[in-house]
Amino acid sequence: MTAIQTEVAWEAVAAAAEAMELPSRFREVMGNVVTPVSIVTALGAGGPHGTTVSAFSSLSMSPPMVLVCLDRGSDLLDIVRSTGRFGLNVMGSGQASLAAGFARKGIDRFAGVEWTLEHGVPRLTGAPGWVACAATQLVPGGDHDIVLGLVLDAGSADGAPLAYHRRTFGTHDPLPADG
Ligand SMILES: Cc1cc2nc3c(=O)[nH]c(=O)nc-3n(C[C@H](O)[C@H](O)[C@H](O)COP(=O)(O)O)c2cc1C
Repeated sequence: MTAIQTEVAWEAVAAAAEAMELPSRFREVMGNVVTPVSIVTALGAGGPHGTTVSAFSSLSMSPPMVLVCLDRGSDLLDIVRSTGRFGLNVMGSGQASLAAGFARKGIDRFAGVEWTLEHGVPRLTGAPGWVACAATQLVPGGDHDIVLGLVLDAGSADGAPLAYHRRTFGTHDPLPADG
């Protein structure tokens, strides 16, 4: 191998190493971003289902729309795809263990959880924010689907929000007013 070929080979190795590190650096950046915490619910043939998400955002005001990003392997995504409906239960600061439970596999997530059926989807009692949606579009995005939801109903109650930061649950702490 000539000196030039060796240099090119090392550049390829360095580029491959850099590419391998990128996902972990990206994960670290995203872990430092404070996100809201919601439980997305739907009613499947087997009963109510719910999944904890942080990737939820308001999308449009006219008409009112939201977006939720769900892993393509999500069981909830399958139900939303077949029923065309989902509910967003925005968690409060006292609901960290509920949110942790709805992210776990292999348990009955609804055991002991109070809920009502509204607009065909489960509404979790005590969540400070509630939005019922008709799923209008599923847009592929990498290994997730972006679910676009047309808002059918919305309601809120007072309460401090539940936030997620560096894999830890917390809440919003207002800064003292300037001056
Ligand atoms: C704080 C937190 C935020 C999460 N955010 C998302 C998210 O935005 N999208 C997603 O697909 N999964 C998210 N997850 C992971 C899912 O809750 C988890 O994979 C769940 O087991 C999926 O359940 P399912 O397959 O029944 O839908 C999050 C988990 C936690 C603890």
